[in-house]
Parts: sequence; structure tokens; C-alpha cells
Amino acid sequence: MENGHTGKHRVAVIGSGNWGSVASRLLASNTAKLPSFHDEVRMWVFEETLPTGEKLSESINQAHENCKYLPGIKLGTNVIADPDLESAVKDADMLVFVTPHQFVEGICKKLVGKLRPGVEAISLIKGMEVKMEGPCMISKLITDTLGINCCVLMGANIANEIAVEKFSEATIGYREDKEAANRWAKLFTTPYFLVSVVEDIEGVELCGTLKNVVAIAAGFVDGLDMGNNTKAAIMRIGLREMRAFSKLLFPSVRDNTFFESCGVADLITTCLGGRNRRVAEAFARNGGKRVF
Ligand SMILES: NC(=O)c1ccc[n+]([C@@H]2O[C@H](COP(=O)([O-])OP(=O)(O)OC[C@H]3O[C@@H](n4cnc5c(N)ncnc54)[C@H](O)[C@@H]3O)[C@@H](O)[C@H]2O)c1
Repeated sequence: MENGHTGKHRVAVIGSGNWGSVASRLLASNTAKLPSFHDEVRMWVFEETLPTGEKLSESINQAHENCKYLPGIKLGTNVIADPDLESAVKDADMLVFVTPHQFVEGICKKLVGKLRPGVEAISLIKGMEVKMEGPCMISKLITDTLGINCCVLMGANIANEIAVEKFSEATIGYREDKEAANRWAKLFTTPYFLVSVVEDIEGVELCGTLKNVVAIAAGFVDGLDMGNNTKAAIMRIGLREMRAFSKLLFPSVRDNTFFESCGVADLITTCLGGRNRRVAEAFARNGGKRVF
């Protein structure tokens, strides 16, 4: 699969929040170096007007920085912000989905019939859609709506740490198409971002989703000052329950996936530093009432 015009793959990123901006920066550093990829990374921006009156996309293209979601970090001159979804994806044959999960369905519906043939996707989105028929993984939503192959990338990846090139690992999950997964791994890997590839898309994606539930419990433990032993127990039991629940939903899920970055490592980082942990701690400290 290659882009017809130039023989080089073209990358578009759908989403420009905190992780979307960091992912675009990381990808752009690689597309600028790797001969099989076109230099430019198009980043779709959900347009906003800044307090200065300037449009966010214009500000990004002028300063090469996302002053709202990733202030102080240069994205690279080859990251081009585009507020028009159709225009952002029209030449791409590699699409990176990285919006909050609740917007994916609407975005996919807008993209039906607008993509190049043979497009490959990857989802960096943690979460799932819960429908009347049951839970639906985001990668499946993308595949079903757009009829395209979709891998996932999950891991212990707090965006602001990757933005300043602190070492992290990540896991790509795929179904069947190993060649596509390896192409994504090549595109994402840098000396400070090491990516492994496993044939267990549901396992990888469920790790990225379920660890947030355990992180809420870890936050309660912190808020109740229950100590490190209890927190470690919550994390261990939580990991075991993540595995049991994942296997209940998808019997194909593999044990080894829980030892990859997407499993135990993401669980640890989220239980130590994530937003869900922080909110749960504040809730417990406030006697079980909302603070925000
Ligand atoms: N931030 C992290 O450290 C991190 C790490 C790993 C994975 N993720 C995952 O990445 C995904 C994106 O998170 P983020 O941190 O980049 O987001 P964010 O919270 O920083 O930004 C929210 C984004 O949503 C956009 N938005 C608002 N309303 C919208 C609408 N109606 N339609 C479309 N977009 C709209 C905003 O413009 C903004 O770009 C999430 O699924 C998250 O779980 C985040």
C-alpha cells in the first residue's frame, strides 16, 4: 500500500489536543527523516477561537506550536494544522485517530466516502463506546464505519512527558495485517519512544480502557491515606480483573499482552500520575463529594 502520486505514504492526524499534538510532533520528526514517508503531517484541528481572537489552526501554523493544548513545545514546521476535516485527510493513506472517544463516531460518519482507497488507520484513543447491544471498541467503530483496517497504539504514555522526549514505551495491537502494524511501528518509533507489536488488538485496546477504572480505585486509596501496600494490592488485583474482564468480552485476548507497555506499565503510570487517580483522590478527601 503506497500513495499513488509519489510512492510515499502520507500521514494525517485526526485530533489536536494534548496527545494529538504530541503524536503529530513525534510523527513529523520521523516523516522528515524516513524516505518512505512524505514530510508533511496534516493535523485536523477542531477549530476554536483563542482569547486573542485568533483561530487556533492559524496560530499553530504561524507559531508551529499548539498554544492551547501543548504550550511551549515546537511541533515542527512540517506539521500543518487544517480545520477542514475533508481537506486534512484527502491525500492521506495513513490516518491517526486521536480525539476524545465521544467524538469518533461523528467524525467517522463525516469521512464516509471521503478517503483514498486502501487507507490504513490507527487509534490512539483510550475508551470505548457502550451501546445498547454491548461495548464497542473504538478501532471496530472506525473499521465498521469506514471499511478500513485499524490498528491501536496504547501504553504508558503521558503526553506531556513524551513531548519533552522522556523515554516511554508503547504497544501496537493489530488483527492479521502484520505488515501494516510494522509500518505503524516504524512511523512511531524514536530513540525515546519504543514501540512493540502484538497480534491482539482487543487485548491492547481493552488495557488502555480498563486501567482507568483501576486508577479510580488507586485514587480512593490515596484519598483515604491507606498507604502503599494497599495501593499495590489494588493495582495487582485490578490488573488481574482487567485480564478476566477482557477475556470474558473477547476469549482471544492473550495473557502476555498484560505484560506489555499497554498493560502493567500503563496501569502503573495511570495509578501514580493520571487524571482519573487525581480526581478520585480529591473526591475521597472531600468526604465523597465532588470538588470540581
Ligand atoms: N493526554 C494524554 O496524556 C493521553 C495519553 C494517551 C492517550 N490519550 C488519549 O488520547 C485521546 C485524546 O486525548 P487528548 O489528551 O489529546 O485530548 P485533550 O483533552 O487534550 O483535548 C480535547 C480535544 O478535543 C477537541 N474537541 C472538543 N470538542 C470537539 C468536538 N465536538 N469534536 C471533535 N473534537 C473536539 C478539542 O479541540 C481538543 O483537541 C483520548 O482518547 C485520550 O484517552 C491521551
